[in-house]
Amino acid sequence: MEINGKTKLACLIGHPVAHSFSPYIHNFLAKEQRIDLRYTCFDVEPNKVKEALEGIRALGIVGSNVTIPHKIEVMPYLDEIDRNAQIIGAVNTIHNKEGKLIGYNTDGLGFVKSVLAEGHVLKNKHVMVLGAGGASRAIVVELAAHGVRKLTICNNTLEKAKVLEEKVTSHFQNVQVEIMPLQVNETALADVDVLINTTPLGMSSKKDLSPIDEKIVPPAHLVVCDIVYTPHDTKLLKWAMTHNLKVVHGIGMLINQAISSFEIWNELEIEAYESVYCLLKEKGII
Ligand code: ATR
Repeated sequence: MEINGKTKLACLIGHPVAHSFSPYIHNFLAKEQRIDLRYTCFDVEPNKVKEALEGIRALGIVGSNVTIPHKIEVMPYLDEIDRNAQIIGAVNTIHNKEGKLIGYNTDGLGFVKSVLAEGHVLKNKHVMVLGAGGASRAIVVELAAHGVRKLTICNNTLEKAKVLEEKVTSHFQNVQVEIMPLQVNETALADVDVLINTTPLGMSSKKDLSPIDEKIVPPAHLVVCDIVYTPHDTKLLKWAMTHNLKVVHGIGMLINQAISSFEIWNELEIEAYESVYCLLKEKGII
C-alpha cells in the first residue's frame, strides 16, 4: 500500500529508540490487516516530552507507544488515562481519539493474554511474582484486575514489594497479597499455581542466572512464566521443563502488548499472534 494523503501515522517515543523492533511489528500488522497506517520511532529527549505530545496532537498522529524513560512523564499531558494504567502509574500506549489523548498500559494486559492464550487459568489462582519493578507493577495490577485470588510478591528490596502490595490492596479488595524476600523455597512454592519472573535474571548478559534455586523441586501443577524473551528458554524455564512443568515464554507478552496497542489505535480486535511470531522468527529477533 503506497503512502498517500490519507495514510495514518503511529509512532514510538522513547530515549533511545534505535534498538526497537516495534516498527517491524506494527508496519507488518498494518499491511496484514490492510490498514493504511505507518509506524516510526522518535527519539525524544527527556526535556521534550511535553512538546512531543503537542506534536502528536498537532500532527494528528493516531497513536503512540511510549517507552523508557517517558512512561510516567507523559501522564500529566494526557486528557484521559485508563483506570488500570492509572493504578499502574505508567502509560505505554496513547490513542489520539479525535484530538483527545487517552493513555493505556498494555504491558500487563499483554502478559495476561499470553498466559490465557496457552490455556492456563488465572482467575482465583495463587500467583507468585518475582520482582517488584516497573514490569512487575503492570503485571500485578492486571492480574488483580483479572481476578486472581492471591498474589505473593518476592523482591530483594522489600520496601518496593510493600508499595506494590499497598497499591493492590487499596484498589482490589478481593485479592489477598503477601510479600517476601526473593529467596523462594519449596514450602513457599507448595500452594502456588503460577510463578512469574519479572526480574532481569536469565536475560542475555545474565543468562546463567535464575531467580529460583535449581535444586528446588516444584509442585507438579505449577505453571512457570518468564517475561525475559532473550534467550527464548531461560534458565528458569529450563528448570521448569526439567520437572515437566508447563511454561509460558516471554515473547508472548512482547507480542501481545504490541497487538493490544495496535487494536486500541485502530479500534478493532485482531487474531495476529502466530503471524507476528513468525515475523520475529524470520527477522532473527527470537
Ligand atoms: P523493569 O521495569 O524491567 O521491571 P526495574 O523497574 O528496574 O525494571 O525492576 C527490576 C526488578 O528486578 C526489581 O524488582 C529488582 O529488584 P530490587 O527492587 O531489589 O532492585 C529486580 N532485580 C534486578 N536485578 C536483580 C538481581 N540481580 N537480583 C535480584 N533481583 C534483581
